[in-house]
Formats: sequence, structure tokens, C-alpha cells
Amino acid sequence: MTPEVHARGKVSAMTDLEHRRPHVRLMRIALQDFRNYAWLQLHLDGRHVCLYGANGAGKTNLMEAVSMLSPGRGLRGAEFTDLIRRDAEGQPARRWALSADVRDGDIDRKLSLSLERDDEGRSKRTARLDGVTTAQNDLGEVMRIIWLTPAMDRVFVGPAGDRRRFLDRQVMAHFPSHGTFGAAYEKAMRQRNALLERGGADPAWLDALELGMASAAAAMATHRVDAVKMMQEAILARPEGAFPKALIDLDGVFETEAANGVALTDIEQEIAAQLRKNRPRDQAAGRTTQGVHRTDLRVIHGPKGLPADQCSTGEQKALLMGLILSNAQALFERDFAPSPLLLLDEAAAHLDSDRRAALYDELTALGGQAWLTGTDHSLFDAFGDRAQRFEVSHGVVQEG
Ligand SMILES: Nc1ncnc2c1ncn2[C@@H]1O[C@H](COP(=O)(O)OP(=O)(O)O)[C@@H](O)[C@H]1O
Ligand SMILES: [Mg+2]
Repeated sequence: MTPEVHARGKVSAMTDLEHRRPHVRLMRIALQDFRNYAWLQLHLDGRHVCLYGANGAGKTNLMEAVSMLSPGRGLRGAEFTDLIRRDAEGQPARRWALSADVRDGDIDRKLSLSLERDDEGRSKRTARLDGVTTAQNDLGEVMRIIWLTPAMDRVFVGPAGDRRRFLDRQVMAHFPSHGTFGAAYEKAMRQRNALLERGGADPAWLDALELGMASAAAAMATHRVDAVKMMQEAILARPEGAFPKALIDLDGVFETEAANGVALTDIEQEIAAQLRKNRPRDQAAGRTTQGVHRTDLRVIHGPKGLPADQCSTGEQKALLMGLILSNAQALFERDFAPSPLLLLDEAAAHLDSDRRAALYDELTALGGQAWLTGTDHSLFDAFGDRAQRFEVSHGVVQEG
């Protein structure tokens, strides 16, 4: 393990696995009626996990199941009801369920999450931590999960909303409550838009909604600024290597204020004042025209000094991989948060063999558990004995 990989002063150059904080690993996962899996149980030995098999076999579905063990809607951002297995006739099962054993150092934790539908089509989700019913968000106390999927390939050239979702996902891994603030903000914003559209709304009602939006937005801006700062520090501390360094920056008025040290309560008041001032304009536009729901993430390819959207597709993919690895590093370095699990869907296939080997070395140096998928098992040869391999075929998984 090279000392540079985690050189940030906190960890000495003498660092090896024994001296580091223990890492979170998935040791068992079971799926019931989840996507194309009727029933699956995998026992893991704590190494990295490689899933290989034909297209449509269920590799991403299995990774998606893992990603559900953290706050939010997982790596496809799917509705919970879409995860219910449908049989060959398209008939959905009544419920899906996931359970997992997680090892954090020498502590074992049990996580579970399920969705049950009744005859009226209502559905109820249940999360449990060590057998005790809890909120799904609390799973974030045990598992922090970040991922890279083929759908993210165009994140730098796509609409700002895609980058914002990417950003917020990285932020959520640092601050599990970030997603809750985001949901509260969106909900209040929809209600405000509807009230404005209807016209003649009670100003006190608008005031209340806008105050709710302002307090969520100020927290979101602060979380974003703090997470981006940790990511940027981790990027700059990375050794030069297979994945180029990015310069990242937030494009949002309130994030800039938070970065400049403006107090949270002052930002909150400014946002509330802006919303109130914008009422006529927002009413005319039919939407909330300004706010943290418009923030963008600016990314520059460090070595080239070029905005990411002007880089080649290959360069953009490498940049994205570097960003995810850096955020993993940033998460590993946090003192009071569980270490992250990394899910890399179809990420190995488009790398040349040197970069692939560099990726596997870097994942091993990070120290946690990474999950990877690919169509061919030879993609993972350079892992040697550092990974467990599973063949996925029509919703059946076998160690191979
Ligand atoms: N709710 C569901 N019920 C049953 N099958 C599903 C469901 N959702 C997706 N699938 C099936 O899962 C398969 C895709 O699995 P996926 O994990 O994406 O494959 P890959 O191995 O290529 O990553 C498709 O055949 C799709 O029809
Ligand atoms: Mg897939």
C-alpha cells in the first residue's frame, strides 16, 4: 500500500491496514422477490466482489439491492414498487425484502429493508437495524454507499439537474440527512408553486412554506459546501495516476455564501426574503425561479485546464472515476462516519488493462469493499486473490 494514497497528515506514512480504522464490509446479503431474483443468499468473505455474466443476467439488480441499504432510492433512483419481482406473466409479488450482515471492524450489524403491498395496492416499507424497526435513513449510520453507473457517463454534458443529483448523492454519503432536507425542500416548493398558480393565496401560508424551504435550503447549501471541500482536498491529495484530478466548484449563490462563512441563520433569512420577493415573478413563470434546486456542479479537468464537458468521452469517464474514488477517500478519512462501500457498475470494461490494474490497486489501497460488474470474468484477472467472483445467470448467482 502506498502511503501517498491516504496522505493528509491525519495518517502517518507508516500506515498499514492494522493502524487504520476498521472498514465496513458486507458479509451476507439475501434478496426475496427483488427485481429478477425470487430468492438469493450470498455469503461473502469480506474481499472485493466481482459479478460477471451476460447482459440482462441480474448483475445491476444485485448491485441495486446493495445500494438500497443506504438512504435514498438506490442506484437506479427507482420507485420502491418497481423493485417488486414480476413473474413471466408480469404479475407482481406481494413484497420484496432485503437483509444483510455488515461487519464494521469486529462489530456485526444486521440490516433489513422491505416493501409490502396490501390488496388495495397501498405499500408499506419497513427498515430494521439489528432487529429494531427504524427509518431507512438510519441505515446510513451503518452503511455509506457511493456508486458509478453507465447512466452517469454523460453527467458533465447533460442538464444541470443530472449533475446536481450526482452531487447530492455524494453529499448524502457524507451527511445522510441531506436527502431528507432535499425531500422537504422539494415538497414545500411544489406546494408553494401550486398556491401561486391558484392565485390569491393566504400570505401567511406562503410565509410558512417559504420558511420551511429556507431552513432546508440553508442546510443543503452547507452540506454541499462541506462535502465538496472534503472531496476537493481528497482529490488534491491523490497521487497522479490513471485517473485525472478534477477541480470542482459549486455554482450557486447560497453555496457561495456558505463557503464564504456567512452564518446559517443569515443564509436562511436571505433565502426566505428572496422567495418572498420572487412571488410575482415565480407566479408568472409557474415555478420557483431561484434557489438551491438550481445549483450546478462545475468540474474542470485539472491537467488540461478544460471544463469537463469539453473533454473527450474517455477523459470524462476517467474524470468521473477519479471523482468517485476521491469521494471514497474523503469518506474513509472522516472520523465519525462509517467507511463507504463502492459500487462500480460496468466500469471495468471500458478501461485499458493498465488502468484496470491501477483501479484494482487503488481499490485495495482504499481498504474497504468494492463491488464491480462486467460481462466477462477475465476483466477481473488483475484482482488476483483480492476479490471474490460470482457468476450471475438468470437471477442465479454462483461463486466461480
Ligand atoms: N421488477 C422486476 N421483476 C422481474 N424482472 C425484472 C424486474 N426489473 C427488472 N427485471 C429484469 O432484470 C433484468 C435486468 O437485470 P440487470 O441486473 O439490469 O442485468 P445486467 O446483468 O445486465 O446488469 C432484465 O431482464 C429485466 O427485465
Ligand atoms: Mg447491468
